[in-house]
Amino acid sequence: MLAGTLNHPNISRTFMCYCDGDNSTGKLYAVMDLGTLGGVVKCDESTMTFSLSPAVEKCVTTHVDKASYAPFCKSLKEKIAQFIFADVAAGLAYLHHPAIRIVNRDIKPENIVFATLEGGTSEKWRDRALIVDFTTAEKIPEGKEETFKVCRDGGTPAFEAPECLTGDHRPMPLDVWALGVSIVCVVYGKLPFPADASVAELENAISTLEPAYPEGIEVSGELKAVLADLLEKDPSKRITIQEAIDKHDWLKV
Ligand SMILES: Nc1ncnc2c1ncn2[C@@H]1O[C@H](COP(=O)(O)OP(=O)(O)O)[C@@H](O)[C@H]1O
Ligand SMILES: [Mg+2]
Repeated sequence: MLAGTLNHPNISRTFMCYCDGDNSTGKLYAVMDLGTLGGVVKCDESTMTFSLSPAVEKCVTTHVDKASYAPFCKSLKEKIAQFIFADVAAGLAYLHHPAIRIVNRDIKPENIVFATLEGGTSEKWRDRALIVDFTTAEKIPEGKEETFKVCRDGGTPAFEAPECLTGDHRPMPLDVWALGVSIVCVVYGKLPFPADASVAELENAISTLEPAYPEGIEVSGELKAVLADLLEKDPSKRITIQEAIDKHDWLKV
């Protein structure tokens, strides 16, 4: 199992798996790091609106120096999102590292949980966001990062990158795009492309339209620059996750 090979503070580690019956009928159990506060967002599926989990919001707020978040982040909500997504970016950079070469394929707010750590002494393992769900993850063979074609049916339509339509879907840029869509969901509470449309219309919107940001929510110039780089439609021009962390303080832990 791929997840069992991973060891990073922002990835939910899998310690062991066991099956309580034979392989075809038994239940599979996995022992993993627990996101003690659960998912970072609640999604209202009828309106496709996203809101920060109150428990996570409360916990992260205790870490935020309220006097210092402006002007780097325009609001406390943006700062909370920054706290969460800097962790997610660190986890993703670990997965995409040339020595690891794993594409997750299903980065979205639902697959990000928050863990509190009682009595932890290492800053590395402090209260933090964790990427969970490696059901669709794939290990890219060494030297094949540019050419390996991941399975088309991996991700969630609203988080799919435009190149999925053309078939030019190199692995790692897919996760970078999905990270951008996820940040939009948390900061703006909405998907950047219409979600009530059919999958075909949604795919058309993703590949042809600019992302739509609801009015009335002011965000920092730093965040706008991050989103412009992550949501670059051309995968060959899209920033890598490590380049994004190096370039943007907003994505630094
Ligand atoms: N390690 C974990 N700690 C806390 N909650 C988790 C953990 N793993 C999964 N979850 C919760 O369970 C939900 C479903 O698990 P997931 O692994 O994403 O399976 P699925 O394939 O059903 O999406 C997640 O969206 C998350 O809310
Ligand atoms: Mg999931």
